[in-house]
Amino acid sequence: MTNMQSFPHEMLREIYEQPAALLRTLAMYLDGDHLREDVADRLAGWANPAGEVLIAASGSSRHAGLAAEILLEDLCGLAVDVEYASEYSCRGGQEDKGIRHPSLLVLSQSGETSDTLAALREANRRGQHSLAITNAKASTMARRADVSMPLGAGVEKAVPATKSFTCQLAVLYLLSLYEAQRMGRMESAELAANIARLQAVPGSIEAQLDGWRIQMAALAHKYNSASTFLFLGRGIHYAIVREGALKLKEASYVHAEGYPVGELKHGPNALVSDTVPLVVIATVDRALKASVLRYKKTLELLRDMKTQGAKVIAIANTGDTQVAGLVADFVAVQPINEYLLPIAEVVPLQLFAYFMALEHGVNVDRPRNLSKAVVETPKGDE
Ligand code: F6R
Repeated sequence: MTNMQSFPHEMLREIYEQPAALLRTLAMYLDGDHLREDVADRLAGWANPAGEVLIAASGSSRHAGLAAEILLEDLCGLAVDVEYASEYSCRGGQEDKGIRHPSLLVLSQSGETSDTLAALREANRRGQHSLAITNAKASTMARRADVSMPLGAGVEKAVPATKSFTCQLAVLYLLSLYEAQRMGRMESAELAANIARLQAVPGSIEAQLDGWRIQMAALAHKYNSASTFLFLGRGIHYAIVREGALKLKEASYVHAEGYPVGELKHGPNALVSDTVPLVVIATVDRALKASVLRYKKTLELLRDMKTQGAKVIAIANTGDTQVAGLVADFVAVQPINEYLLPIAEVVPLQLFAYFMALEHGVNVDRPRNLSKAVVETPKGDE
C-alpha cells in the first residue's frame, strides 16, 4: 500500500502523491463521465475567433506548455505558439502594427512567477483573452486572468516540481477536450472514450510506482558517474524529455539536455560517449498512425546508437522486445493513449532525478540557488 509508506524527502512523497493529486484534479472538471458544464460555460469565448493561442510560461510549466501545443493543435485544430514568459514579456515592438493578438494561456504552479505575470499583464493591457492554469486558485495569475483553471495537486513543498507538473498535463488534456467539444471536433463517443482513458491514468501510475522506484534507484546507482545525459523524444514526448533533463539538472546538479530525437545527429551526437548516456522515450500508441511512424523512426535511431556503442536507457511500452533488444536499460510503461503517455512516462524520469540527487548527496528538496517561486520585489505596479 503506497499511501502507508513513509518518505525520507518531500520530493519522493510528492511523486507518490501523484495518483491522488490527479484524481482530485479530475474531480474538479468531470461530472462522472462528462465534462462539467459550468467549466464549459466559463471557457466559452476564451479562444479568439481565429483559434490562435499563445502559451507563456517558465521552466517545468513551459514544458507542460510544449505538450499543450500538441494537444491543442492535434485535438482541436488551434494554432498554438509557446514562448518563454521571460522573452514574451520583453518583446515589445508589436505596438500599432495591426497585429491580431492570440488568446493567452499562462501556466504556473505558483501563479506568482514574475515573468509569467508580466506576460499576463501585457495581454490584459492589449485586451487579449486570457486563461490561467495554476496550482494556487487565489494566486495573482488566477485572479487576473479572464478564466482560471486551478489544479488539485495540493501544496508542493519540494522545489523540483512533480505532482504540479502531471496535474498541469491532466488539466491541459481536459482543456483540449473542452475545446474540441466546443468546436465540434470530437464526436461524443470519442470524447467519452478519451475521458475514460484519462480516468484510468492515476490507477495505472499507482500500479507502476513501486516497480519504477526500485528500477530507477538501481539505474541512478549504475549511471552515477555520468557527467552529462542527453534526453531524446519525439512529438509530445519531446516536452517530457525537456522536463526529464531539467529535473535531473536541478535535483542532482548533473548536466542534462533534452532534444527532439531527430536533432541528435545535427550536433549533440558528438557528445555521446561512455560518460554521456542517452535517455530515449520510445513509447508508442499503436492505434495512432503518426505515433507508429514516430516510433519507427526512433527505432532507427536506437539501431544506429547500438552500432555506435552508445549507452541507452529507453522508456518504452511494457513488453516491447524490439526496443529492449537495442538498449542497455529498458524502463517499461504500460501502453496508453499517445496524448496521455506523457503523464505516466515523466514519473520514472522524476524518480531517476530523485535517486541521482541522493547518489550525489544533494538536498533534493532544496537544491542550491533555486526557490519555489521566482518572484520580484513588488515595484508598485503589482
Ligand atoms: C522546476 C520548477 C521550475 C518552475 C518555474 C516556473 O522543477 O519548478 O522550473 O516550473 O520556476 O514556476 P511556476 O510554475 O510557479 O510559474
